Amino acid sequence: MPTTDTQTANTEDEPIRIEDLDRRSIDHVLTTTRAVRRRLDLDRPVPLEVIDECLEIGLQAPTGYNLQNWRWLVISDEESRHELADSYRRSLEPFVEMMEGELPEDEQTQKVAASSTYLAEHLHEVPVHVIPCTTLSVREEREMWEQMEYESDPLNMAASSVYGEVWPAAWSFMLALRSRGLGSSLTMIHLAQEPTVAELLGVPDGISQAGLIPVAYFEGEDFRRGTRRPLEDVAFYDQWGQTSPFN
Ligand SMILES: Cc1cc2nc3c(=O)[nH]c(=O)nc-3n(C[C@H](O)[C@H](O)[C@H](O)COP(=O)(O)O)c2cc1C
Repeated sequence: MPTTDTQTANTEDEPIRIEDLDRRSIDHVLTTTRAVRRRLDLDRPVPLEVIDECLEIGLQAPTGYNLQNWRWLVISDEESRHELADSYRRSLEPFVEMMEGELPEDEQTQKVAASSTYLAEHLHEVPVHVIPCTTLSVREEREMWEQMEYESDPLNMAASSVYGEVWPAAWSFMLALRSRGLGSSLTMIHLAQEPTVAELLGVPDGISQAGLIPVAYFEGEDFRRGTRRPLEDVAFYDQWGQTSPFN
């Protein structure tokens, strides 16, 4: 197994005491990193140095056994972005058709649907696409866990461990972008055409793509908190259904 600790250790960072952390800014970024679609500045180029800087931050995220099975594919080539966007749209179409009339009528859901359609229509214009990948596959991981003859079907373990390898880092990457004035959104619908995209980008067999993160500078000043279900509906204490003692 290759050693990686010297590659990722950031020895230049001065330690920061907890009381000196700018919690207001940190919490602001954590609570206002939205799925940016309509407010992407499609005309402003994104220097790849910024992408590198943000990916580097993402690489501090956790992975199982610290094996770092992640791989990152950064696409700025115009022709590839066009083809990727075509694959994305071809994947989205049947899903949208199936969901027609099924989605809740509320304003928030309708807004997300309209904004997702906007992104799909303009995806080829977004200056940079990032595809988080992993060297693991759900099928192989499942087979590996099956040898343990555990109580549960290891499908969930496999899915959790394979994509869990990349999403924490991808989210850190998106937070780092946000703090530098760039917007992105986490998408995965193009996986319906994963082999076509793999061929387009020379992704070897055995590498799983996890999603597609379109990146551009955002327009406007800032973002607000998103609409979320209240904590008491989704977080339980000691027993399922038992809400916080502070409610
Ligand atoms: C697993 C996952 C898959 C997603 N797939 C897509 C997608 O294919 N297309 C898209 O436009 N947004 C996609 N999203 C973004 C969500 O729609 C978005 O995070 C959600 O609506 C909340 O938006 P907000 O953070 O701006 O409040 C995905 C998000 C997640 C976590």
